[in-house]
Amino acid sequence: MKTIVTTDRKCHSDSVALAGEMAAKLNIELIDRNQQSVAGMMRRYEAQAVLVAKGKELHLYTAEGELFFHPNMSQLRVKNIRLGDKDHMAEAMELKEGMSVLDCTLGFGADAIVASFVVGESGRVTGIEASPLIAAVTGYGLQNFLASNYELHAAMRRIEVHNSDALDFLRQQADKSYDVVYFDPMFRHPLRSSTNINPLRSVADARALTVEAVTEAKRVARRRVVMKEARGSAEFARLGFAKIAGGKWSKINFGIISVE
Ligand SMILES: C[S@@+](CC[C@H](N)C(=O)[O-])C[C@H]1O[C@@H](n2cnc3c(N)ncnc32)[C@H](O)[C@@H]1O
Repeated sequence: MKTIVTTDRKCHSDSVALAGEMAAKLNIELIDRNQQSVAGMMRRYEAQAVLVAKGKELHLYTAEGELFFHPNMSQLRVKNIRLGDKDHMAEAMELKEGMSVLDCTLGFGADAIVASFVVGESGRVTGIEASPLIAAVTGYGLQNFLASNYELHAAMRRIEVHNSDALDFLRQQADKSYDVVYFDPMFRHPLRSSTNINPLRSVADARALTVEAVTEAKRVARRRVVMKEARGSAEFARLGFAKIAGGKWSKINFGIISVE
């Protein structure tokens, strides 16, 4: 996918600096915005994606829509946890303060932020993302987004991001080096209600999770390997997740493999 990077129309100094940083980091062409529309730039430069630096934010435009980092879902989940509610993912992971989590499919980081909040300062969350564009947008957002409360802010800043294929990364990890290894791959059969993640589909790595990756995850995990998928998905059985958890009415389930 040909991607170019540019600034917002105002060419604010922060945007210019950020666009330059991303051009170097991602090794993509930096184009002067020069009042052009994003759609016009896509046509003119035959690009399928345009990364736009807007002050201290990165927005990614594709034909399917706009993507940017925002901790909206995680913010709500963190708020609910603070009010004493249960979070299905954290429950499936049996997550506690001080634990370490390897999130093999970081995406826009909502699950990683919730995990980071629950494990706290004494814990550790590492996020792996195969798409260089998503890793760049999420990695930058986690380090720079100004959250409304300190706990969320600190939880985002603590997450370590790597642009890598999950299996490649897992192979380099020592046995039992993370308490939980987590997978949330692109669902085999997307939920019809999740139209908001449609723009993500064009840039995300949509490959199915492999048995090999799950085998490596079992070696790297001290306690559990957890996978999110649609309720009733055949992926749970194919990949050996015999125990299934999740909300009674939820369209999403969590498969659990205990390795303790
Ligand atoms: C459904 S999204 C994850 C959403 C994420 N849990 C969140 O809360 O925002 C799946 C992400 O995993 C990435 N991905 C898929 N396969 C991968 C792999 N083998 N290694 C690393 N990342 C992968 C995709 O590019 C996509 O960004």
